[in-house]
Amino acid sequence: IQKIAVLTSGGDSPGMNAAIRAVVRCCFYHKVDCVGVYRGLQGLIDADFTPLGPRSVKNIINQGGTFLKSARSEDFRTKQGREKAYKNLKEATIDALVAIGGDGTFTGCKIFNEEFNFPIIGIPGTIDNDINGTDYTIGYDTALNTVVEAIDKIRDTANSHNRLFLVEVMGRNAGDIALNAGIGAGAEEILIPEEDLGKDRLIASLKRSKEAGKSSSIVVVSEGDQIGKNILGLAEYIKENLQEYEVKVTVLGHIQRGGAPSCYDRVLASRLGVAAVDALMEGKRDAMIGIRHGKEIVVPIVEALKGKNEIDLKLIRVADITSL
Ligand code: F6P
Repeated sequence: IQKIAVLTSGGDSPGMNAAIRAVVRCCFYHKVDCVGVYRGLQGLIDADFTPLGPRSVKNIINQGGTFLKSARSEDFRTKQGREKAYKNLKEATIDALVAIGGDGTFTGCKIFNEEFNFPIIGIPGTIDNDINGTDYTIGYDTALNTVVEAIDKIRDTANSHNRLFLVEVMGRNAGDIALNAGIGAGAEEILIPEEDLGKDRLIASLKRSKEAGKSSSIVVVSEGDQIGKNILGLAEYIKENLQEYEVKVTVLGHIQRGGAPSCYDRVLASRLGVAAVDALMEGKRDAMIGIRHGKEIVVPIVEALKGKNEIDLKLIRVADITSL
């Protein structure tokens, strides 16, 4: 392998820049050329390439987003688009690819590898923490801290006005952000897609906390939760069935994807970036680098695409007990 391309694809996440930096510098370490691809898989089709050296990635370890930009490419879903991408890679004499992204990115990479036998290593970069085969994805820790900081602020108003706040957080179909940020922010209830609490149990529980002397409440709602999917409808239902509180809704939205990466995410991104290039140099391909029990591991891409990593449901008990 003499030339490796790197791209970021799908939803951006804090720490992607740190991962690119690690890939570029590990290529330099191995005396291999490195090329950046703009706008993810779409950039392969448009041959939007730029040479990258160790100094091209200076001062970015602390920056959120991705300087290579990202996109969700529709063209890459077509055979024609992927053929064009392969032709462009060959013309640019690129031998292998490091793709930083989530399951959409990995699905595209798997199909591409099957069609053209092109060496690819994936790095999990998404705030959702929903990739099988890795305990953590890059950006998840920063998103948790962002959510906790936001809820801390909401708590001030909830407490001052005796209100109940429903706070919607991202995560697509995964409740990891909701469950962990909910515990960290001391939420009364946490609604996640992995466990169906049901509206009535929610009302009963909120009534109990009111009777136990609580004057305000925070309910963290994962965007993928069945009853939380219509958060305004849920707020109306609570208003009708629980007169004790004034109910407010806050949707945190894309603030969860931005901001400077936490130290944990910077270190994780650096480790996975180095391990990805090392893996390619050792002849590995069609795999993802994950982190398991604190160690970098190489996971076949098909494994990474087998559903999501399991949420630790014991945390629900912790949430229930600590919110008594
Ligand atoms: O996958 C990351 C994520 O932020 C999800 O949590 C969310 O559902 C989705 O992306 C939002 O996507 P977009 O930025 O395209 O609206």
